[in-house]
Amino acid sequence: MSTQQAEPESQEAPKDPEMQGAESPAAEKQKEGGMVDQTSTDASELEGETVHIKVFRYDPEVEGKQEPRFDDFHVPFEKGMTVLDSVMYARDEYDSSLTFRHSCRQAVCGSDAFFVNGKQRLGCKTQIADLEQPVRIEPLPHQEVVKDLVVDMDHFYDQMHTVEPYFQDEDTPATEDLEEQRQSPENREKIKMSSRCIWCGACMSSCNIAAGDNEYLGPAAINKAYKFAMDDRESEEIKEHRLRILEQEHGVWRCQTQFSCTEVCPKDIPLTEHIQELKREAVKKNLKFW
Ligand code: FES
Repeated sequence: MSTQQAEPESQEAPKDPEMQGAESPAAEKQKEGGMVDQTSTDASELEGETVHIKVFRYDPEVEGKQEPRFDDFHVPFEKGMTVLDSVMYARDEYDSSLTFRHSCRQAVCGSDAFFVNGKQRLGCKTQIADLEQPVRIEPLPHQEVVKDLVVDMDHFYDQMHTVEPYFQDEDTPATEDLEEQRQSPENREKIKMSSRCIWCGACMSSCNIAAGDNEYLGPAAINKAYKFAMDDRESEEIKEHRLRILEQEHGVWRCQTQFSCTEVCPKDIPLTEHIQELKREAVKKNLKFW
């Protein structure tokens, strides 16, 4: 099922009796009709309070849980608490069936990209105090939901592999000892941002083109191709091969420079700029002068 189709009903989840009825200052402010500014909530105001999170739930294998819904949890706030911390607390203390991916908890593994208050974000990199309450936590849009916050990433990984995301050096015989291949500091600087990708899928999920064209390579895969196509250590022939992959019908030309991918990237990669640069490279490759 897709999150785009879901119209879930709100439902209360089992709560810690001590937490029932507890409201944070932000929640009380909302009850009074006031809006909570996304950037104005001071973390110190939440000390000793709870934060209200609404978590998307869906389990196709359990009778009675096949209808998408939201569960409410009131989680004790701690300074520095992230969105990931809050769902971990909810899982550990209230409902052990709550399912989501996570690993490093330091914005490296890319496994906990969620749709939080209407935007793709990394759970472990997003401070809960910075968000308007209740904090709405959903799986990434435009992806099939497996269970709760877990989406099927197979298609995303397939697209990443389409661009051959590995260094290729046709000049080095496989039988000889590999030698150090030096890169100039300038060239390193050029591809530095593209190499920060952690395969979280946030950009792909935000892309309207990818939502309408399942074969579109998508910003993450194109950025990965950029990293290698712009690496001076690969030959011109390999670069041309990469550009041929990228200029296909569902490649770089599908991008309409909406910048949504750039906006949500948790590693601040200028994805749209990279796609535009590859478009220019593709044009240059095909220019002929007689
Ligand atoms: Fe690894 Fe968030 S848990 S990126």
